[in-house]
Amino acid sequence: TLIEWDAEAAEKGGFDTYMLKEIYEQPQALTNTLIGRLHDDTGEVNLDINLDPASFKRISIIACGTAFYAGLVGEYLIEQLARIPVEVDVASEYRYRSPLVSENTLAIVISQSGETIDTLEALREAKKQGAKTLGVINAKGSSMTREVDDVLYIHAGPEIGVASTKAYTAMVSGMLMLALWLGRARGTLNEELGRELLQGARELPRLVEECLQPERVENIQRIAQKYHQARDYLFLGRGVNSPTAFEGALKLKEISYIHAEAYAAGEMKHGPIALIDEHLPVVVIATESFLLEKTISNIQEVKARSGKVIAVVSDGDTDAARHADDVIYVPRAAEMVSPVVNAVAMQLLAYFTATALNRDVDKPRNLAKSVTVE
Ligand code: G6P
Repeated sequence: TLIEWDAEAAEKGGFDTYMLKEIYEQPQALTNTLIGRLHDDTGEVNLDINLDPASFKRISIIACGTAFYAGLVGEYLIEQLARIPVEVDVASEYRYRSPLVSENTLAIVISQSGETIDTLEALREAKKQGAKTLGVINAKGSSMTREVDDVLYIHAGPEIGVASTKAYTAMVSGMLMLALWLGRARGTLNEELGRELLQGARELPRLVEECLQPERVENIQRIAQKYHQARDYLFLGRGVNSPTAFEGALKLKEISYIHAEAYAAGEMKHGPIALIDEHLPVVVIATESFLLEKTISNIQEVKARSGKVIAVVSDGDTDAARHADDVIYVPRAAEMVSPVVNAVAMQLLAYFTATALNRDVDKPRNLAKSVTVE
């Protein structure tokens, strides 16, 4: 008999798609992102960055696509922990909008490939205007790594699926470490919170591993199948998890081609509420937060208009879950590290929706893994 050897199937390591393989690689990828950089005993964050964290008065974060959403998480974390004004731009805007830059500006570019032309050109613009530059990058030796003043590699390993998964969670973890590093160096981070977050970051690989337990994955698959015929989806989240909602909608659009919108939950009343009817699934990120009660009110508002609520809640929650049609439980995590955990639920929901619709998730139509033309 003939033994068939399919090189691609072998590379997928038993998974149907690269994307699913990469989703499951996240515990290891995150271990590689974090390893050797966080020190429990001293509370120190060692990123090997040769820039003076005390010298910056302003931070500009520049990126495209999924990396842009990692940047938005970074904005929340850095402003909160390091008390420096941060702005986040999509690179194609930054390039042309005459940004305000001085030698006290740190421009941070975030990129999986390190080759996205818009981000690369925005980096050149920031440099030309005198900013110090830092890359939060996955691909070793890529163009951006050669042009920035310093690099924080995220070490997610090669990512082949066009829709980014493990690079996103690694980027967000990278931004968390940067925020801790800046906060410590600038003396704005209180000791206790610093230790708590450092501990929270170290637990991320384990928490993500828990997100991938078969019962949790099967539950998300069931929910995805239940709603896969929907024409539109709405995603809501707030605070540090509003970017999680944006990323959830992006992931769904990219691989299932279902139209999806995302809003910071508090904005729902200013427009998107008009969309709600019995045909609209609304994914609400309602994990532990000091604003959870407000998010629960949003859930009730959706329900009052016959919308279908898929709530993402922390293990043990009864409040938010009680009002929802369907519930995705995720392991409890400190709010500031929860965007990593919650992103995994977003990825799986998009993935199983797309496979229910027979989409080619690894090569979605019209998209490229890295966009090197303008
Ligand atoms: C493309 C990809 C996206 C990615 C974006 C930025 O649009 O399809 O998945 O997020 O580029 O890529 P980068 O390599 O710079 O992170």
